[in-house]
Amino acid sequence: MKKIAKKVDYLLRRWVEEHRQQRLSAKNNRVEVDFLHVMLSVIDDGQFSGRDPDTVIKATCLNLILASYDTTAITLTWALSLLLNNRHALKKSQAGMEIHVGKHRQVDGSDIKNLVYLQAIVKETLRLYPPGPLSVPHEAIEDCTVAGFHIQAGTRLLVNLWKLHRDPRV
Ligand code: HEM
Repeated sequence: MKKIAKKVDYLLRRWVEEHRQQRLSAKNNRVEVDFLHVMLSVIDDGQFSGRDPDTVIKATCLNLILASYDTTAITLTWALSLLLNNRHALKKSQAGMEIHVGKHRQVDGSDIKNLVYLQAIVKETLRLYPPGPLSVPHEAIEDCTVAGFHIQAGTRLLVNLWKLHRDPRV
């Protein structure tokens, strides 16, 4: 894990360096072609008061990659697996595709609004197999009351989304 962490850090450091270089060679210094450029702009504008901007940039990139890649890959794997085990839903979804997309082009983001059954499949997949079944831990920053219960500052909370998703009362 430590070895991989070093490699990932090296990769992220190179991204930051490359982007800094691009900004230096750009005439007005304000290239904002991607997220990393935007973060560097925020730092150059003095809107960031932390001591170690590079670590914040690297951590933010890593956070986004981990939070986005794993969740999406897991959800898609479950969706396909559920469909392959449910022929009726698979056929119905294919029929919807044929009506709204046809067989001569690929599905496009703008088609999604018309693919209501496909939307339901994704929602049902997320309900049955949420990629973060316990969400992420939360901590109360101050004393508060939730549903009549007194919660002390510092209390850590893990919400069992998986269980809630399968509770007919919810
Ligand atoms: C199937 C897809 C996804 C699911 C199920 C999912 C689920 C979640 C959940 C449950 C949380 C915790 C929310 C809370 O505090 O209660 C979260 C936070 C977060 N997600 Fe996702 N996520 C998904 C995709 C993505 C993608 C694509 C990105 C980025 C491109 C992303 C970035 C983040 C980030 C940065 C946070 C932390 C937000 C914060 O605390 O400020 N997620 N996600």
